[in-house]
Amino acid sequence: MPAPSRPGVTVFLTGLSGAGKSTIADALVADLAAEGRPVTVLDGDVVRTHLSSELSFSRADRDLNIRRIGFVAGEVVKHGGTVVVAAIAPYEAAREEARALVEQHGRFVLVHLSTPLEVCEGRDVKGLYARARAGHITGFTGIDDPYEPPARAEVVVDTSVTPLAESVALIRAAMAGGPRPAAPVG
Ligand code: ADX
Repeated sequence: MPAPSRPGVTVFLTGLSGAGKSTIADALVADLAAEGRPVTVLDGDVVRTHLSSELSFSRADRDLNIRRIGFVAGEVVKHGGTVVVAAIAPYEAAREEARALVEQHGRFVLVHLSTPLEVCEGRDVKGLYARARAGHITGFTGIDDPYEPPARAEVVVDTSVTPLAESVALIRAAMAGGPRPAAPVG
């Protein structure tokens, strides 16, 4: 069998709830589809309905969720596929584990949606921040649960200041281009 012409790639969108992950995933999928390029989407909410339905939001379960996503993404990338992940993925170690699983087979592009908490909370599309503030949900990321910003993301986008089309263009450039930035010194 001939080798695939283009190596597989996973774009991993990480950020707070309401940071714009699903919106950017949808736009990216549409952009790729316009070129006839099919995409496997692994969205946190959907994965938690099917693949990770038994998992809670404890650190151990979030890490397991991200490990599963990394494994599936790696399997798709292995055959030259394109994957878009949209998950909070609040812990650096789990994101880097997912990276390692994918990079065995192809490319991994980490995209940090750095949209500030105030903006995410102001959007509150699902009403979850209000419920977390009221104490009806505990362990909610950004309220009473941590989010570790990535130390080395290929792309960082604050969706409160960057237009959607520009965000997609930045990600497409990173998908096509070179290595991620060097680790900060010190
Ligand atoms: S992750 O931490 O394991 O990466 P994931 O992206 O799969 O999270 O799921 C996040 C979604 O679960 C949020 O968009 C939100 O709809 C829902 N959710 C329910 N409880 C929580 C919580 N305690 N913290 C964050 N998200 C939650």
